Amino acid sequence: MKNLNGKVAVITGGASGIGLGMARAFAGAGMHLVIADLDDAARTAALAEFHAAGIKAIGQRCDVSSQEQVQALARMTMDNFGGVHVLCNNAGVGIPTATHPMKLADWRWIIDVDLYGPIYGIDAFLPIMEAQGEGHINATSSMAGLFASGFMGAYNVAKHGVVALMATLARDLAGRKSAVTASVLCPGPINTNISRHSVAYRPGHAKPAADGVSVGQAAKGIQKLLEEQGMDPDEVGRIVLDAIHTGRFWILTHPDMAKIAVKQTAAMAADGSLTGVRRG
Ligand SMILES: NC(=O)c1ccc[n+]([C@@H]2O[C@H](COP(=O)([O-])OP(=O)(O)OC[C@H]3O[C@@H](n4cnc5c(N)ncnc54)[C@H](O)[C@@H]3O)[C@@H](O)[C@H]2O)c1
Repeated sequence: MKNLNGKVAVITGGASGIGLGMARAFAGAGMHLVIADLDDAARTAALAEFHAAGIKAIGQRCDVSSQEQVQALARMTMDNFGGVHVLCNNAGVGIPTATHPMKLADWRWIIDVDLYGPIYGIDAFLPIMEAQGEGHINATSSMAGLFASGFMGAYNVAKHGVVALMATLARDLAGRKSAVTASVLCPGPINTNISRHSVAYRPGHAKPAADGVSVGQAAKGIQKLLEEQGMDPDEVGRIVLDAIHTGRFWILTHPDMAKIAVKQTAAMAADGSLTGVRRG
């Protein structure tokens, strides 16, 4: 999409981190904003920032793992703006645990938020965009959607699902000459509060040991790494805006990391081995 000025963007998980970075970039391009997030305080702070800058922005408390709440978000957007041009299915959570003994409640929670969230978003917003004759749907996956390292079972599964979902959607839309396009964001490490938020949102807040390391401890380690080495989320927002303007499907913040996926694919074709497996 070339001209976004005066158009409407809906961003889930838009009150923090990458979502807030995208909202800031879209606002800079003259877009009106709908910030959907579970975090009331962060959403209020984000709206105050945009209103102070004269941006038309509204917010809604929305749990993306609820189909009803995502449908209500679409209705609220249409009631207020009468259209929607960019949807970023971005809200996400993840906790570092081994595939087993990861609790089934954690599997469901992560897959419901990270994969069903984007599915509900497409279900609710795509018909509106197609009727309108214009629109773009993005979803936030991860490098964890392109290769599966150990210890992030449900997150890897959900994020691979998001890549497959968006690639399939992009092909299906092109095949039927839809006016709507799609893209997928696969960030590398970004300096956000994802680990803190995920531990806080986790059902039951339990902290069972996983391979001898508590989820809380492991999440703190990831949080520290993101703070020390992660990209500024506002930079990610600018990258996404540029990709929407230029029509790129794959949006990578750290394109060098794609070589890990390339190496795995080469090993698969050469001898059927799984790269990076160490025993003991
Ligand atoms: N930070 C990274 O290094 C990184 C890397 C790759 C992918 N990602 C992905 O980027 C996306 C954004 O995460 P972030 O890093 O900006 O984290 P963040 O925690 O700073 O922001 C995520 C936002 O989503 C909201 N949220 C969580 N669960 C929700 C739900 N059920 N419904 C609605 N809102 C919900 C949170 O309140 C938060 O405001 C996620 O999908 C994440 O998996 C992050």
